Amino acid sequence: MTAPDTDLAAGLAAALDDVLDPVPAGRLAPVVDRLIRDYRSGTVPSSPILRTADDAAAYAAYRMPATYAAVVDVLERVAGRVDDPATQVDLGGGTGAAVWAAAQVWPSLRQATVLEAAAPARALGRRLAEAAPVPAVRAARWEAAVFGTGTTLPETDLVTACYLLGELPEPVREALTGAAARAARMVVVVEPGTPAGYARVLAARSQLLAAGMRIAAPCPHDGACPVTGDDWCHFAARVPRSSRHRALKAGTLGHEDEKFSYVVAVREHPDRAPGRIVRHPGSRKGLVTLRVCSADGGLRDTPVPRSRKELFRAARDAAWGDPWPPGETGPAPASPG
Ligand SMILES: C[S@@+](CC[C@H](N)C(=O)[O-])C[C@H]1O[C@@H](n2cnc3c(N)ncnc32)[C@H](O)[C@@H]1O
Repeated sequence: MTAPDTDLAAGLAAALDDVLDPVPAGRLAPVVDRLIRDYRSGTVPSSPILRTADDAAAYAAYRMPATYAAVVDVLERVAGRVDDPATQVDLGGGTGAAVWAAAQVWPSLRQATVLEAAAPARALGRRLAEAAPVPAVRAARWEAAVFGTGTTLPETDLVTACYLLGELPEPVREALTGAAARAARMVVVVEPGTPAGYARVLAARSQLLAAGMRIAAPCPHDGACPVTGDDWCHFAARVPRSSRHRALKAGTLGHEDEKFSYVVAVREHPDRAPGRIVRHPGSRKGLVTLRVCSADGGLRDTPVPRSRKELFRAARDAAWGDPWPPGETGPAPASPG
């Protein structure tokens, strides 16, 4: 997998500046407040959340850099371990963050199709995409679609469903996950890193496994998730905040941490990480402790003392979400059935 030579985060920031700078922040701020309330309500919306051009602009301003960063983080976890996709179908793609993310991680991407119910989000997404520095984003198709229990999807290498499932009633969620498993070689689900988002990811994970897919990440196994009780499996991506973002969300920090839960499932045998660090590493003098989800389905606090020299250095550099131990591939998964 060759690293892309274009930094799409900068391209996306520039496209957002061009489109959003002329819109007065005072006009978007109350819309952002309303969107935050709607997304935090935890209920399936009875009517579309993004209804107007200002709704879409506010969403792009305060959410798109974060959803882009989360999806890039997720896709980077499997890049080089799965076949590079050439085609993508992005479900509930909004203003297109997951298409920008897939193009960032996979220069192999040739054709992306965004299926999205909200016309203002499609219009803004198309406008932003026209300014993208890579052809796959500029050439993305934007199609009107309202998902229901009868939705079918076209065959594709990659289906992305990012921050979507929470907006769908459970029967539609299930039908769409089933349709994704039938249509795609790889299915990526990303949800907010909350207990509710994790529960939706876990349900999608079970369904993708039942449909014959294998888990490529974050889990190093296809077994039951060992994260139980009051805990939930989630990760974080650091997002630089623009001055517009700081003004809209009344914040002062130069960054925020976007918390997310995710699952990536594939048709082929995945080349899995041997284990996954599922918490911020704990560190005190001469000892790093990593909470690792392992290939055998166990969850263990793994102490790495200074005496382990190279491993200790690796543990000091390791981050939440990274594979562990470093430089190893997980055991080849057994054949299904
Ligand atoms: C929170 S946004 C996520 C947008 C984008 N995936 C991202 O990560 O930034 C959810 C999107 O799903 C769309 N959506 C919700 N229900 C839908 C449905 N039944 N059919 C199609 N799109 C839907 C909404 O219009 C919205 O654009």
